[in-house]
Amino acid sequence: MRILSGIQSSGVLHIGNYLGMMRPAIALQAEGEAFYFIADYHALTSLKDPATLRENGRRVAVDFLACGLDPERAALFRQSDVPQVTELAWILSTITPMGLLERAHSYKDKIARGLSASAGLFTYPVLMAADILIYDSDVVPVGKDQKQHIEITRDLAVKMNETFGEVFKLPEPRIQPDTETVPGLDGQKMSKSYANTIDIFGNEKEVRKQVMSIVTDSSPIEAPKDPDRSTIFQLYSLFATKEESAAMREAFRRGGTGYGDFKKQLFAKLWDYFEPMRKRRAEILADPSYVDNVLASGAQRANEAADKVMARVRKAVGL
Ligand code: ADP
Ligand code: TRP
Repeated sequence: MRILSGIQSSGVLHIGNYLGMMRPAIALQAEGEAFYFIADYHALTSLKDPATLRENGRRVAVDFLACGLDPERAALFRQSDVPQVTELAWILSTITPMGLLERAHSYKDKIARGLSASAGLFTYPVLMAADILIYDSDVVPVGKDQKQHIEITRDLAVKMNETFGEVFKLPEPRIQPDTETVPGLDGQKMSKSYANTIDIFGNEKEVRKQVMSIVTDSSPIEAPKDPDRSTIFQLYSLFATKEESAAMREAFRRGGTGYGDFKKQLFAKLWDYFEPMRKRRAEILADPSYVDNVLASGAQRANEAADKVMARVRKAVGL
């Protein structure tokens, strides 16, 4: 089984990325041949500062490794180290119906948030389809927001197969039901671009500040509270044991505890959860050549896999 996923290097990773994509991807690395990449071509659609793009890319690699990606099992590489993917994106674009891209939510959302409507942003899903198809991927672990992109990928694979014969495998999304959309500080989907994140590797002061700024209603301390409508409880239950979640649920219902106290419990839980990963991260950062070597060998494995598929594609279409 070939497992593939990507993450944009457009900013700093948060616990939504961790629960929605990184943790499931790390769990899958033992079950097949995994390819995980830093989507720097995609990040260019929103980020125009070369030093930041470069730095973020490296940081994503470090953070992913610190969270448990095992480079002996999974190939970790930069999207741009396999430039053939842009050739495949071009080929796919020639069979992509405009209407398919016009219906993409992510494009509409990004424009609504003020990103400039570039051709690259519009054709983002075509490049993503190329990312997936060029590695003959079977399974793609992602958060729910990426579901439509995988459906577009499947549509394009089917269209290519109908037009040119069996060229591509059809990939399946793998979305974790309990963490498909992790809420942010304001209760909306947590996202780098909504300034509502809790960062995985922020320093203690930053992470505490993020947790303490979770939006709540104005119920007084003594009032019973509804755990199911609270972002604090939702996030806590994603990291706590069943017993711990049940205890917090009960404390919400009972009344007598303020939101501030619940936030402190959430902070403590998060800080503990990521403690071993912070340790590992410090070790990785102490040896810069380690990350360079991981990315170089990941790129080599990815190129070998991509070259095989591209030979097949070029032959099939007549290039
Ligand atoms: P962001 O929205 O912060 O820019 P990305 O688009 O780079 O994050 O997402 C990287 C991966 O993390 C994708 O698979 C995406 O589905 C997942 N992801 C991002 N935010 C969340 C969230 N709030 N809940 C669950 N998964 C998420
Ligand atoms: N679009 C994805 C995101 O924003 C990142 C991505 C690019 C990706 N190419 C991919 C994810 C291929 C899975 C497979 O999160």
